[in-house]
Amino acid sequence: LSNSLSFLSIMVRKFVVGGNWKMNGDKATIDGIVGFLNAGAPYNNVEVIVSPPAPYLLYAKEKLNEGVLVAAQNCYKVAKGAFTGEQSPAMLKDIGLKWVIIGHSERRHVFGESDSLTAEKTQHAIAEGLSVIFCVGEKLEEREAGHTKDVNFRQLQALVDLKVDWSKVVIAYEPVWAIGTGKVASPAQADEVHKWIREFLAQKASPEVAEQTRIIYGGSVTADNCVELGKLGDIDGFLVGGASLKPDFVKIINARN
Ligand code: 13P
Repeated sequence: LSNSLSFLSIMVRKFVVGGNWKMNGDKATIDGIVGFLNAGAPYNNVEVIVSPPAPYLLYAKEKLNEGVLVAAQNCYKVAKGAFTGEQSPAMLKDIGLKWVIIGHSERRHVFGESDSLTAEKTQHAIAEGLSVIFCVGEKLEEREAGHTKDVNFRQLQALVDLKVDWSKVVIAYEPVWAIGTGKVASPAQADEVHKWIREFLAQKASPEVAEQTRIIYGGSVTADNCVELGKLGDIDGFLVGGASLKPDFVKIINARN
């Protein structure tokens, strides 16, 4: 019975693969990325979401096959106003986007965004009708000190405190030590944290939320390691950085196919 239940949950949670381009690309390289992404479409049994830098959101969206969705890499927590350099969910919706990434470790650790700010942004983005890829993850020193569970739970608790609608959230577990380092989490390491997060959702939200919420893994995902990670029942997809700029990204999209 438990085997068929986990099979069922895989069916309930559509595999989702995001490509976070970070602050990379120009029109010429984006043309190349669009070329291999469109050539690989249509994608079956998998949702594909790419996230170009803000100046290229519309450029990429207009060139990409309709089946490839576009997410912003960030947004602010209010609709408009005197917030130089920011963009609002209302604006993202206005240009036809449905997704935004919030709480990426680079936003948290390079730009100093707090748990409460990331939660407020998430709440506002959802209220404005967007879905959110919400990133969590521990730093190396936190893992080595045995705080992995605490750190991930603390980052998620900020969403619980604001009573966010989990049906609009994909959780991306991205251990900071694995991002851009070539040191991918082992399947056992990723599986352990994904299971903790699902237990957290069961306790803090409901068993249904735990069953239905997609938890994806990010951090040095490549065409070589994605198949093994993608076999795990609690890994519902990936958030890919460096490898999402290369044709291999199509292999990662198809990791479960
Ligand atoms: P890399 O895949 O380059 O390690 O980056 C992961 C990431 O930060 C995706 O958001």
